[in-house]
Amino acid sequence: MREKSLHASIRNVAVVTGAANGIGWACAQAFAAAGYAVGLLDVDAAAVAGRAVELGAEHVGLGCDVTDAAQVDAAFELIAGRFGRLDALVNNAGIIGSQEPSIRQDMDYFDRITKVIVNGTFLCSRAAYRRMSAQGHGSIVNVGSISGLVGLPRRNAYGAAKAGVHSLTRALASEWAGEGIRVNAVAPGYIATAMVKGLIERGVADAARLERRIPMGRLGTPEDVADAILFLASDKARYITGAILSVDGGWAAFGDAGHAFEANAH
Ligand code: NAI
Repeated sequence: MREKSLHASIRNVAVVTGAANGIGWACAQAFAAAGYAVGLLDVDAAAVAGRAVELGAEHVGLGCDVTDAAQVDAAFELIAGRFGRLDALVNNAGIIGSQEPSIRQDMDYFDRITKVIVNGTFLCSRAAYRRMSAQGHGSIVNVGSISGLVGLPRRNAYGAAKAGVHSLTRALASEWAGEGIRVNAVAPGYIATAMVKGLIERGVADAARLERRIPMGRLGTPEDVADAILFLASDKARYITGAILSVDGGWAAFGDAGHAFEANAH
């Protein structure tokens, strides 16, 4: 009885990367509302510090470029040291690139996309593993994409990187299950964040066309994705590992010709 109440007083701890904006910020808020102490990491140090203040004194915001192993290891040491544990990691940091026709894409930017999305996910997972394996439990949720499931024109580096995230998810889930660490991913569709708004503003994506292509008839919200991530991170998903969960309003499921939403309107 006494032991139970001692355990109850220890809060779960989550680290979210790319936490200053969009889906990452929604995750930080969802995890905090669910009672986690949250370590918010972002390459934009000033913005993420502000977000942590907004979230509350028990949370911590740190500038951290997920492509830099030394910065990643230092951030995880600091957070695990401060809170004494690490229950969940959300590998969310990502960039999408210019979306130029593939033949015109810049190789430096190609490398940068792969580095942020694939290397960043691996480096943070490795840093989290050290603490989670010592505890004998932990849950990692990676942010993949529909771009890693199907072919989308002009998304060559981004799509390849997201397919890489899906692959890493399955490999690490298989390798670390015996140590009590689950690894899953979400594959979001079109979510109304700065990333997608930027594509719409630059004329690379058309909001009305996208909405017609989504069976549920609307773009997703960052909260739609954050809730799915929170579920996968939580004990409610205790027998799920290596899964890639679509969070896309039915986008990837729709295979007919024409407009998904209009075809279903009665
Ligand atoms: P966003 O652009 O609103 O936020 C991304 C955050 O990641 C920013 O705060 C940025 O500063 C941070 N970041 C970028 N590079 C970083 C680095 N090297 N180290 C640490 N932080 C870094 O983007 P959004 O839309 O919230 O995307 C979040 C994740 O969801 C990304 O992995 C993205 O690829 C993925 N995704 C987004 C979709 C969408 O429709 N918005 C769809 C599918 C996947």
